Amino acid sequence: MTTLEIERDVSLAPLTSLELGGPAKYFVRAGDETTLVEALRWSADREIPSAILAGGSNLIVPDEGYEGLVIQMAIDALDFREGGTVSAGAGVAWEKVVEGAVARGWAGLECLSGIPGSTGATPIQNVGAYGVEVAEVIARVRVLRRDTLAFDELAPEDCGFGYRDSLFKRDPGRFVVSAVDFALRPNGPGTVRYAELEKNVVPGATLAEIRRTVRALRRQKSMLIEPGDPNRRSAGSFFLNPVVALADADRLVEQAIDEKLVSAVDEVPRYPTQGAQVKLAAGWLIEKAGVAKGTRRGAIGVSSKHALALVHHGGGTTAELLAFADEIRARVFDRFGVTLKREPRLLV
Ligand code: EPU
Repeated sequence: MTTLEIERDVSLAPLTSLELGGPAKYFVRAGDETTLVEALRWSADREIPSAILAGGSNLIVPDEGYEGLVIQMAIDALDFREGGTVSAGAGVAWEKVVEGAVARGWAGLECLSGIPGSTGATPIQNVGAYGVEVAEVIARVRVLRRDTLAFDELAPEDCGFGYRDSLFKRDPGRFVVSAVDFALRPNGPGTVRYAELEKNVVPGATLAEIRRTVRALRRQKSMLIEPGDPNRRSAGSFFLNPVVALADADRLVEQAIDEKLVSAVDEVPRYPTQGAQVKLAAGWLIEKAGVAKGTRRGAIGVSSKHALALVHHGGGTTAELLAFADEIRARVFDRFGVTLKREPRLLV
C-alpha cells in the first residue's frame, strides 16, 4: 500500500497545451497501476468525481477548474519487444513511441509523427494523421474498469474504433486506459497514402524520411508544439472533419461552384469514408465561411497557419475560447448547413 499524495488547488493551465482554465480541487500523479487504483478508490470512497489528465494536448479546462480529483497519468513503462510489438504505458509521450519504432525500422507509426500528447490518449480518440489511424496497429488496450477497479485487456475489435472515435470516448466513465500494445511491421514499407504526403516524399521513401516529411508538414501548419511559435498554444484540430451524406456533399460542391468559391469540382476537399458518406475538410469550410486564418477575438484566434486550430495568445479565458468556437460553428452552419463538432475533450 503506497501513501497517496493528494495535492489541493493545483493549477491545470500549465499542464495543457492551450494553457487555459482553472485549478483542480484535488490532484494526484499516478506513476503506476497501484496508485491509479488507489486514487480512484479514494475518490469513490468520498463520492468525489475524478478525471484523468494525460498529455493535456487535446483538453479544454473550464475557467472554474475541476471540482474533484484530477489524476495525472504518468505510467511510463516502454518496451520494444522482438517481432515488432511495442508495449507502452499510458503516460509515455507518444512521440517517444513513434521515434523508437522508426529508429528500429518498424513500420506503422511513421505517419503519426510529431503528434503531442501521451500514448494512453491515442486509442481514446483513435488518433490519426496523413491517412493512418492508430487503430490500424493497436494489438491490445489494457484498461482499468472504473466500476470494479479490475484490469482487463481489450482486443481492437472490442474498442469500437471509428474516425476520431472509440468506445472509450463514447463512454468516458467506464474505463481508464493504462497501457497499449502496438503490432508493427519490422522492415515493412512505410505508409504513403495521403495526397499531401505523396507529393512530398520520393517513391520508396524510408520510414525516417516519411517521419521527417510528416514533421516538416506539421511544422508548416504549427501542428508541432514548438517554443517560439506564436500558434503553439492550441489543442490541434478544434473541430472534427464533418462526415456527411453523399447528397449533402454534392449539394455543397454545387454551392461552392455557384458562389465561385472554387472553379472546379475537385477543388473542394473531400475524403471517402466507409459507407455512403463523405468526409469534408472543416478547415476549408471555416475559411470559406469567411473566418480567415489569423482572425482574432482578443486573446483567442484562429491559427495563422491552419483554420482548424484555435490558438490562445496569452491572458485569455476558456469562456472566450468557447465563445469564439461557437461563433465559428454558427458561421459555418449559416453558410453551408454543416454542423461542426468540437474535437478536444472538455474537462467536466
Ligand atoms: N484546409 C483549408 N484551410 C485550412 C486548413 C486546411 O482549406 O486552413 C484544407 C486543405 O487545403 C486540405 C484540407 O483542408 O485540402 C485538409 O487539410 P489538412 O491536410 O491540413 O488536414 P485536416 O483535415 O485539416 C486532419 C486531422 C489532423 C491531421 C491532418 C493531417 C482532423 C480533425 N484533423 O486535419 O489532426 O494532422 O488531417 O492528416 O481529422 C488533430 O486531430 O488535432 C489533428 C491535427
